[in-house]
Amino acid sequence: MKAVILAGGFGTRIRPLTCLNPKPMLPLVNKPFMHNFISWIKSHGVKDIILSTGYLPEVFEEYFKNGADLGVNIDYITEEVPLGTCGAVKNLEKLLGNDTFMVFNGDVLSAVDLTEMMKFHKDKKSDITIALTPVEDPTSYGLVPVDEDGRVEKFLEKPSWDEITTNLINAGTYIIERKLLELVPPNENYSFERGLFPNALEIGYKIFGFVSSAYWLDLGTPAKYLQAHYDILNGRIKFDFRENEVFDHIRIGDNTAYQKESMLSSPIVIGNNCQIDKSAKINPLTVIGDDCKIGAGSAISGSVLLDGVSIGKNCIIKDSIISYNVTIKDKVIIENNSVIGDNAEIGNNNILKNQIKINVNAKVKDGEIFF
Ligand code: GDD
Ligand code: MG
Repeated sequence: MKAVILAGGFGTRIRPLTCLNPKPMLPLVNKPFMHNFISWIKSHGVKDIILSTGYLPEVFEEYFKNGADLGVNIDYITEEVPLGTCGAVKNLEKLLGNDTFMVFNGDVLSAVDLTEMMKFHKDKKSDITIALTPVEDPTSYGLVPVDEDGRVEKFLEKPSWDEITTNLINAGTYIIERKLLELVPPNENYSFERGLFPNALEIGYKIFGFVSSAYWLDLGTPAKYLQAHYDILNGRIKFDFRENEVFDHIRIGDNTAYQKESMLSSPIVIGNNCQIDKSAKINPLTVIGDDCKIGAGSAISGSVLLDGVSIGKNCIIKDSIISYNVTIKDKVIIENNSVIGDNAEIGNNNILKNQIKINVNAKVKDGEIFF
């Protein structure tokens, strides 16, 4: 079955991480998120992939090329102007052939059993099958109530609290019969969630929800991006780590200089060519990329550092994200879901505690921020 992966969004809620990188290509434990995504769908036999891009398309193509390294075939279609989730698929329908196809939102970390979902779609003779997952707060998703047989009753995209009657939301994975695309207007911005799905339901097509309790997370915000790392490190979802395990749940790449005493408890992942000072402390739920330096007396916990980050002396980095090639000088405190954009420089004695976001290329002077 062919699959379209929707990867054209701007990733606005997770800026500044997405100023220079499309969200699906952000690293997830030191491998592009989309790499892990493709491994997941491939493990269910889905190997013919069409990547629907728009924002920074070259980043995908440079990494995956034709997909051969991952054992899949990848075609790319890039929109000049965003066509919406369903318009994007209509735009590439000639590549789909005449068969049933799958569509994936390219920004969810999911372990939904696609093999079971395909069987369910066939057994129910469904026209559209949507994977559904329970969440605590459905207000930022598409709510999809179903009857006892799994048949979809209605669609409520981004509902307010008083509209909520179920905790089942659209998990961003669909199986769709080819004929449904005839309902979609060509060359128009059109969505599945507010367009095709409710229209097809009204016409009387059979739309089923495939309810799954497998691991699922939308990577939309910095907090969710950190959560995805914690969940992988804690073994809540299967993950093919790049680094070898050198101690119990501590993985370290090649040519990295460290002392075991810097890491007293796990889980931790550190990439290649890093220098961890002997008096630095790397605490649990930390992921460090390649070519990073951690200075004397600094402590890192619950944080994600992308490649090329340099942390000076006596810094505290806690529950935060430090993007590519950031330089942090001495005695800096960064905490509580703060995000430092690519190439930024943070001078000595700055305190960034409250979900502070520093833009890409910013230069923060010594002692400038105390918040
Ligand atoms: N090619 C293309 N063109 N891709 C797009 C476009 C577009 O115009 N707009 C969005 N996408 C891609 C995004 O890159 C993302 O991978 C996916 O489509 C979904 O878009 P989001 O912008 O992330 O939507 P959302 O998270 O607010 O809501 C959607 O996902 C939820 C689950 O995570 C909806 O499908 C909800 O119903 C659903 O619950
Ligand atoms: Mg999303």
